[in-house]
Amino acid sequence: MASSAQNKLMTNIGPGTPAGNVLRSFWQPVALAEELNNDRPVAAVQVFGESLVLFRDQDGNLGLLERNCAHRGADLCYGRLEDNGIRCPFHGWLFSTNGDCMEQPAEPKDSTLRHRVKQKSYPAIEKNGMIFAFMGKGDIPPIPNLDCLIAPSTHNFSFKGFVDCNWLQLLEVGIDPAHASFLHRFLEDEEDAKYGQQFRDNVDNIPMTKILRDYYRPEIRVENTDFGHRLIALRNLNNNGMHVRVTNQIFPSAIHIPLGNEMTLTQWHVPIDDFRSYWYAMFTSFGDPVDKDLMRKQRLELYELPDYIPKKGKWNNYGYNPTEQISETYTGMGSDINVHDQWAVESQGSIQDRTKETLATSDVAIKAYRKNLIKSIQQQDRSDVNLSHYDHSIPKAIDVIASLDNWEKAWTEAEMKRRQSCSWKSTINQL
Ligand code: FES
Ligand SMILES: [Fe+2]
Repeated sequence: MASSAQNKLMTNIGPGTPAGNVLRSFWQPVALAEELNNDRPVAAVQVFGESLVLFRDQDGNLGLLERNCAHRGADLCYGRLEDNGIRCPFHGWLFSTNGDCMEQPAEPKDSTLRHRVKQKSYPAIEKNGMIFAFMGKGDIPPIPNLDCLIAPSTHNFSFKGFVDCNWLQLLEVGIDPAHASFLHRFLEDEEDAKYGQQFRDNVDNIPMTKILRDYYRPEIRVENTDFGHRLIALRNLNNNGMHVRVTNQIFPSAIHIPLGNEMTLTQWHVPIDDFRSYWYAMFTSFGDPVDKDLMRKQRLELYELPDYIPKKGKWNNYGYNPTEQISETYTGMGSDINVHDQWAVESQGSIQDRTKETLATSDVAIKAYRKNLIKSIQQQDRSDVNLSHYDHSIPKAIDVIASLDNWEKAWTEAEMKRRQSCSWKSTINQL
C-alpha cells in the first residue's frame, strides 16, 4: 500500500513534477519511425503531458518541437515542411529541427527578433524503428547499450499500443511474475501457438501453459542491479526440475522479458499524460531474422491506426465471454495476452488508488521497484540513478528448466550459449 502522497508522487508526470523529472532524465520512446513514413513526415506527439510536433527536415534530421508556435501559439502540426524546417502557416515563421527561428517574413527586413526567439525543442534519435527523445535537463546521456538497440534491424521489430491508464500500473503488471499463472492461464494446452499466445511456447518440451497453470505459486527473487532489478521466478516442478524465468526491470520505465527461446521483448511504458499511456515494444531475435511484415500484420488486426488503439477495450467489455471463461481461458477474453493485461490495468482505474491495495508476498518486485522509484524522486538527482547500464551490463532474459540443485548456473549458461550462437552478437557480455 502507498500513502495518497506517495501515490501522487509516483504517478504525476507533467512538466516540473518530481516523477516527471526522473522519467525525463532518460531517453524515452515518443513515436514509431513508421509514423513518419509518408509523403509529409510530420506527426503530433503527446507525451509526458506535453504537446509536441515531430518532423523530418529535408536532410532527414528529426525535429521534436513544442507544438504551439512561439509567435502566437498556432499549431505547428499543420506546418509547411520547406526550406529545411517547419514553417508555421499563420505568419510564416520558420523553425529548424533544434528550434532556431530562421525566418520571420512579416517582420521588418532589419529585424533581429528572430535571434531572440527559440521554439522549445528536444533531441530525438531513431533506433530500430523507434524514435527516442531526451526531455530532461542537463547533459544528454548516451543511448543505452541494450541488445534491442544494437541488434541489426533485420532482427528487430518495433510496435506500440495505447492503454487507458497511468504509466505506473502498466509497468507494475510487467514486474509481477505471479499474475501469468492466473491472468494468462489457458485451461487446455494446444499443439501450436498462435499470435498473442506467447505463453504457449514449450520449455524443454513442457508447454509453458502447463507450467504456469500447474505451478502457480512461484518463488520470486529480486536482485538490485545497476540497470534496475533482476527478477527470478522459480517454479519447482518436482521430478521435472526447476523452471527458471529471468526478467528485468530497466529503470525507470522499461521491462525486458523472454519470448520463447530465441526472442526477447523490451518494453517501455510511456505516459501520454497522467491518465493515458503507450507501451513501446521491441521484439529482438537472437536467432533468425524476424518477419516484420507478418508481425506488423498480426498486430494491425488488433490495433487501429493512426493512434494504435486496441480493438478490444472497455467499450466492448474486452470481448468477455463467460462460456469461454469456464472452459478455455481464465479471463474469458480470448487468447491474446495483451488484452488480458490491458483489462487488468485499465480496470484498476485511470490512476490506481494505491491507498486501498494490499501488497502481498508475490508483489515483492513491485515493492522493491517503488522503493527505488521513490528514492530517485525524492533525491531529484540524476547522479544517484546509476547509469552504468549504459555501458556494458546488459540485462539477460531467459526461460529454462534446470535441475533443482543447479538452476543458478544453468540459466546463466543457457544465456551465454544463446549469445555465443547469435549471429549479430559479437561480444559476450559479462553475466
Ligand atoms: S503564430 Fe506561428 S507564425 Fe504566427
Ligand atoms: Fe501479463
